[in-house]
Amino acid sequence: MQKEVVLTGLRSNAEFHLGNYLGAILPMVELQKKHAGQYQLNMFIPDLHSFTTPIDHGSLYEQTLKNLKVFVAAGLDIDQPDTFIYRQSYIAAHSEMTWILDCFTYFGELSRMTEFKEKGGQNETVSVGLFNYPVLMAADILLYGAKWVPVGDDQRQHVEFTRDLAIRMNNKFGELLVVPEENAKQTEFAGRSEPVRIRSLRNPEKKMSKSVDDPAGTIMLTDDPNDAAQKIMSAETDSLSAIPKGLDWEKQPGVSNLLQILAILKDDWSNVFNKYQGNTSYADLKKETAVAVSEFLANFQAKMSLVDEPKLVSRLEADENAMSEAANATLLKVQKAVGLRPT
Ligand code: TYM
Repeated sequence: MQKEVVLTGLRSNAEFHLGNYLGAILPMVELQKKHAGQYQLNMFIPDLHSFTTPIDHGSLYEQTLKNLKVFVAAGLDIDQPDTFIYRQSYIAAHSEMTWILDCFTYFGELSRMTEFKEKGGQNETVSVGLFNYPVLMAADILLYGAKWVPVGDDQRQHVEFTRDLAIRMNNKFGELLVVPEENAKQTEFAGRSEPVRIRSLRNPEKKMSKSVDDPAGTIMLTDDPNDAAQKIMSAETDSLSAIPKGLDWEKQPGVSNLLQILAILKDDWSNVFNKYQGNTSYADLKKETAVAVSEFLANFQAKMSLVDEPKLVSRLEADENAMSEAANATLLKVQKAVGLRPT
């Protein structure tokens, strides 16, 4: 029987940050460790997604390879036969599938996407690529029949959109595409009680992002571990002087952010919450989180320098061939359904 597919992608327009790691990379690595051999894991770099907003094109190719190394340094075992790593642009079916899906996507639904609105949807010169981005993401997911898509909170709307689109296609053409599970089940599947939303350490109302405007609010995986600890120690909190029982993103986003970071890094939510709830000072929570983050970074960076690059590249090329075949098979089914190929 075919294994259920778990799939996630991370853009390579810049280095990864702690939000990327905790929201998307770690769930895949944990899944591979805890359920070895049970699922097919697809972990890829959506390089075509990487310039929906302006970037330095001169470094994209190298940055993509570097970010693939991060997967391995984070613990992804590329010797597993059911794990596949690839670059989106090396599999032409992603682009072709996007065009077909575009024609079944409503202008209105894409206009309502939060990420599009936040990144400048009102602006006349914003790229059509930014607008169209969720359709390419839907193609990424639907081509491989992925049921599970571990992503951070900010991408959940796009997974929901993918689900709507797959259901729409199936209603029109019969059982054509695998419909990914709904968001609540996705969170549970990733082993979390809450969707992962790592906030900026400076402006905890906003997500931690690759934005160059917020270096003090963002922990990059390349940050010096001591600097990262400093950033945690200076993290913005609040004046309520009470650690909440659970996460309270409305009233205490800064403290909730620290609690979430610590709980995920320690892989022990109940201990972290029991230990700190009701404390009237944030100092101990900050200290323990700072130590956990700097230890994690030191460990990760040591592993980064040990990644066997030639092995990574040869696995990448083999996986790109295998995934092209898989993607083309789905594309052909869709081409037949819409009348582009004889049935
Ligand atoms: P991207 O490249 O912006 O982010 C990669 C992953 O990191 C997660 N993430 C976060 N999680 C928690 N807290 C944060 N502050 C935070 N910032 C980023 C994102 O939710 C994401 O899981 N469109 C996607 C890439 C993509 C994709 C796909 C993902 C393309 N095709 C198919 C899954 C399946 C994106 O731009 O993520």
